[in-house]
Amino acid sequence: MSGAPDGFCGFCESQIASESKTTETKVRRGLKLYRKMKNYKIRNVTIICILCALLMTACASNGSPENTQDTASSDGGTSDTSDQDMIVVGFSQVGAESDWRKENTQSMIKAFSAERGYELILEDAQQKQSNQITAIRTFIQRDVDYIVLAPVTEEGWDTVLGEAKDAGIPVIIVDRKVATQDEDLFTCWIGSDFELEGKKVCTWLTDFCSKKGITPDTLNIVDIQGTIGASAQIGRTKGLVDAAAKNGWNISGMASGEYTQAKGREVTAGFLNRFPDVNVVYCENDNEAFGAIEAIEAAGKKAGSDIAGGEIMVLSFDGVSEEAIEDAREGKISCIGECNPLHGPRVEKIIRNLQQGTAPDKYIYVEEELFSADQSITSVEVEGNGYPVTIIGQ
Ligand code: AHR
Repeated sequence: MSGAPDGFCGFCESQIASESKTTETKVRRGLKLYRKMKNYKIRNVTIICILCALLMTACASNGSPENTQDTASSDGGTSDTSDQDMIVVGFSQVGAESDWRKENTQSMIKAFSAERGYELILEDAQQKQSNQITAIRTFIQRDVDYIVLAPVTEEGWDTVLGEAKDAGIPVIIVDRKVATQDEDLFTCWIGSDFELEGKKVCTWLTDFCSKKGITPDTLNIVDIQGTIGASAQIGRTKGLVDAAAKNGWNISGMASGEYTQAKGREVTAGFLNRFPDVNVVYCENDNEAFGAIEAIEAAGKKAGSDIAGGEIMVLSFDGVSEEAIEDAREGKISCIGECNPLHGPRVEKIIRNLQQGTAPDKYIYVEEELFSADQSITSVEVEGNGYPVTIIGQ
């Protein structure tokens, strides 16, 4: 990943956290060992004995110059004592498939900087769960202080999260969720309510149609889905399917655009070919929408809200990049459901609190709105709650 600041390192070039001989570090390591042994269900008396032994060794070595020297770390290098206070965070990121994802990665890198006392080990999974499982196992081997996981899909995490739990390493899930029977496998989750995002965009479409006198059964929608099995796809697809059933909209086709521009273009082009009467393209992120607009224009049509006049309406999610906001300003994307990527400071705060013994809520949802250049709808109401629409000026 380009533009990574100091402190970012992939596995190949990583600096492994080195051992410390300082009293403070020994106590910290003793506490960490305690946490792990608790997970292994070893009797308290054994744990207390080990802690006492660690504390006694630490006190005995305190002040003795030869014992406060830097020591070789497990990668063969040396480290100074200031490194020893760093909190080591292993972050398994989905990939770099979208503008949202890139912004999310940058947010994490900034929040977990060396200046703030962190060593961030960032691993890009290139949209493959198997890479994420390997990354988590490597984090466990390295005995990181925390694991942060942005899971590509929801299923299939129990085994590896069980391994992290046995190792006593807290796991924070960010962005998409994991589906597990055992909620103790992770400390907490923070991210977006993706189904609510879908409901908000579909409510905007419902309100828009009723304002413009467009009858619901004239809507022929194709859904360019996200990565199948990802929470963002599951929630946004459900939002559309439920709204279509409720309003009498026709869904002509659904297929994954994998959250990328190239696939979004390819899938939309195929649908336009198969279903010439399509008048709404529901894209499950902005990058797919960019591809959909390209496909619409390549087919000699116009992306816009004037469905009765033959335009094809593009709906989307994220609202992160300038390009997406510009497309909305120009009316090429009629409405964007915001998906906020700035989770770095949020996750950092969770870890800071955990360090001080404060447990987070299990599920933390971020607040989000809608973006549109159309001025006729300034808010939408979903299940009794109002959500603002930011009108993007010309
Ligand atoms: O999980 C969040 C989604 O993943 C974003 O909407 C999308 O752009 C990203 O790739």
